[in-house]
Amino acid sequence: MTEKSFKGKTVLLTAGPTHEPIDPVRFIGNHSTGKMGYALAECFAQRGAKVQLVSGPTNLRTHHANIEVVAVTTADEMYRAVLKYAEAADVWVFAAAVADYRPKTMADKKIKKDGDELTIELVKNVDIASALGKQKKEWQFSVGFALETHNESANAREKLRKKNLNMIVLNSLNDPGAGFAHDTNQVTIIEENATHSFELKPKSELAQDIVNLIWERLHG
Ligand code: CTP
Repeated sequence: MTEKSFKGKTVLLTAGPTHEPIDPVRFIGNHSTGKMGYALAECFAQRGAKVQLVSGPTNLRTHHANIEVVAVTTADEMYRAVLKYAEAADVWVFAAAVADYRPKTMADKKIKKDGDELTIELVKNVDIASALGKQKKEWQFSVGFALETHNESANAREKLRKKNLNMIVLNSLNDPGAGFAHDTNQVTIIEENATHSFELKPKSELAQDIVNLIWERLHG
């Protein structure tokens, strides 16, 4: 089989969690490790794409010459980095687990445990995928991820529509071996008129399946 090449294509990826500072030593975050996003970046790069990987804080490293890593911490920084590269990119993949809320203010000194209760006021972060969905051009292809615990397909379909995505990769936290921190994942890819279910497999292999499907849509 000839390789499904991405030579001449530019791919913008978000990956990892975001950290939203509470004070100089604490933050709100999540369990995302970035493994799926980095596996996709490697796969696109191996197929010849130029990859911009906007990555939240992770322990992962990539050395492929085709991958430019843009390291960010917060959702706001991720959004600004994405805006910089989005217009010129052929494919957008939103694999990051962006924190939906951030503390309204960041304390400039470490918060001391003075009282028995502490209330932190949170404000909504920008939804990067949704914001980008509004500026997507006809020739651009966008892929989102959804992590759901209930009403999985219906929720994922709703995100596909609301965020103006071409494709959404649904992983359910109810599947053993799937989701955060695992090296394997079990996903269903949902498009407007098609659904593809994949068996539990290593994230690197799943990345190949996702990239193949994107290639088919770009060349279909
Ligand atoms: N996403 C994003 N910016 C955000 C939140 C989510 O770009 N502030 C992207 C994710 O990268 C993913 C998709 O949107 O591709 C869905 O993310 P998810 O967290 O499942 O959905 P939310 O829209 O945050 O909805 P909810 O948390 O209510 O399920």
